[in-house]
Amino acid sequence: MTNLTLRGVTKRFGATEAVSNVDLEILAGEMVVFVGPSGCGKSTLLRMIAGLEPVSEGRIEIGDRDVTQAEPVERGLAMVFQSYALYPHMTVAENMGFPLEMQGLSKEEIAGRVRATAQTLQLQDHLDRKPRALSGGQRQRVAIGRAIVRNPVAFLFDEPLSNLDAELRVQMRLEIARLHRDLKATMIYVTHDQVEAMTLADRIVVLRGGRIEQVGAPLELYDNPANAFVAGFIGSPRMNLIPATSWRDGDGLRIVVPGGEVRFRPAGTMPPDGAAVQLGLRPEQMAVAGGVPLPAICDTIERLGAVSYLYARLADGTAVTAQVDHALAAASIGAQVSFALDASRALLFDASGRRIA
Ligand SMILES: Nc1ncnc2c1ncn2[C@@H]1O[C@H](COP(=O)(O)OP(=O)(O)OP(=O)(O)O)[C@@H](O)[C@H]1O
Ligand SMILES: [Mg+2]
Repeated sequence: MTNLTLRGVTKRFGATEAVSNVDLEILAGEMVVFVGPSGCGKSTLLRMIAGLEPVSEGRIEIGDRDVTQAEPVERGLAMVFQSYALYPHMTVAENMGFPLEMQGLSKEEIAGRVRATAQTLQLQDHLDRKPRALSGGQRQRVAIGRAIVRNPVAFLFDEPLSNLDAELRVQMRLEIARLHRDLKATMIYVTHDQVEAMTLADRIVVLRGGRIEQVGAPLELYDNPANAFVAGFIGSPRMNLIPATSWRDGDGLRIVVPGGEVRFRPAGTMPPDGAAVQLGLRPEQMAVAGGVPLPAICDTIERLGAVSYLYARLADGTAVTAQVDHALAAASIGAQVSFALDASRALLFDASGRRIA
């Protein structure tokens, strides 16, 4: 197993900078997930690592080898795409063995590796079928199998599950997590789905506009986002970012939100009196017994069974989402409700989204 290093990697398409000065070290055996909104540069970054896209600036290293100019085949990586592009006229076994045939391996060697891989992916009973006789999930497993047989230095996945229906996605997500544990291989996984990122990653890389916003373990990003973008992107339903003004109050701050206020002790510099800030509260921190009261008007309630989400508007019309217990979940649409904010776990951002506390 080898680690993979990106140093100042930049990609320009004409005047657009798709990826800007990315520095990242991926450890051997790690599962790293690139996540971010559409167009933020996830695929471009992955394709540069794979060697499918030349870099404009910077360096890519695999182990201590500089592969920046190396051809894709010389890098020893295997890539799995969203469209799995199996050969329709070949059986599962032939599809999986094809890359090895290209490498000139013997028939016995190929058969052995294909059989072992099929076992790992629970495809052993389907080796003689053609792709059209397989389900979507099975086809995706064949595509992953085609990558595994090559015994690559690292696996690169670009949204491999986005063609599958919701149920199958969840199942395949668990299978990829298991595969990562079994193979102990280095994996880089691209998705725009933050739930996929949270559930699969050892570390998540959040990208926006071609730049890294933050790198960290899933719960690190959840509990300690560096800025309002990461705070809003990681977590579902999203964190509430409530517009507020900040006032000094002794050695702390008084944060005035529409219809209420909370107190804060910032760790860093204090914003000037009257500064526009954003109060960050997760849905599960909005309605906690004994919290700071905040009135709102109920818009919609989603009763999911284990939890309910109440969508509401604050005094100034700001939309918020709260995870509520059965009492609040019984509220009627249009009714006035009172949240109880867990201010001890709230976050504070300045108007530009930088974290203050
Ligand atoms: N070959 C290309 N020529 C010009 N611009 C490109 C090219 N490929 C990508 N881009 C641009 O680079 C930016 C990043 O694209 P990229 O495909 O990496 O995004 P992404 O994060 O993978 O998005 P998605 O989630 O939609 O797949 C986008 O603005 C895109 O339009
Ligand atoms: Mg993409």
